[in-house]
Amino acid sequence: MRVRAAFRERYLDVVGSIYLYNEFRGYTSLDRVLEAVRVRCPDDRVFQDEIAKHRADEHKHYVMFRRWFERQGRMPLKVDSRVGHIDRFIQWVFHCSIEELDTDHILANADEFEQLCRVIMLTEQRGYAQVEIILKNKLIMSDPILKRIFQIVHKDEPDHFMPYQRWLERQGRATAKWNERAADWCIHKILMLGKLPALFLDAGRERMEQWPDEAGALPAH
Ligand SMILES: [Fe+2]
Ligand SMILES: [Fe+2]
Repeated sequence: MRVRAAFRERYLDVVGSIYLYNEFRGYTSLDRVLEAVRVRCPDDRVFQDEIAKHRADEHKHYVMFRRWFERQGRMPLKVDSRVGHIDRFIQWVFHCSIEELDTDHILANADEFEQLCRVIMLTEQRGYAQVEIILKNKLIMSDPILKRIFQIVHKDEPDHFMPYQRWLERQGRATAKWNERAADWCIHKILMLGKLPALFLDAGRERMEQWPDEAGALPAH
């Protein structure tokens, strides 16, 4: 019984830490996207408002995970961009980190801007599918607060990919290319089958010393 309790605790700790990182990464990266969209589509107030809402939701999610850890009196496990779906996707497609993304270049290049929209759309669609799986996960659902958090995330998620999908459709562009879908699939497998178990088993893994929103930029590795 003690082993089962320890397993559960560690598993929730790992899942919570990965989510906290990804939510933080989500809302901070969207600041830059919003900036870009304001320049690229100055008259499209609907699209801008949708992205602003997306950003606000990701921030809300981050705060919910932070409170979940705070309530337990501990910090999340120290993780980095290697557990970030969007980090890996940007690296794959643009060959650089989110910080290194050349927003001016992307703005001046219609194809790249559309590619960025597709990366966000696919990342969010993946997020939605993942939450559906989590809502059926008995271990995670056994924590009433986490259960509530994931129900809220699930409800918010369609608003996160639909704006980009609609925008791409309005431009008459394919909403995703086969190689981008393949990249998304591979990244997901790397995270679920590689990073998650590795983190689970890394008993000596340190905890964050500061909350990411207080520490400024996270270390790249
Ligand atoms: Fe989120
Ligand atoms: Fe999201």
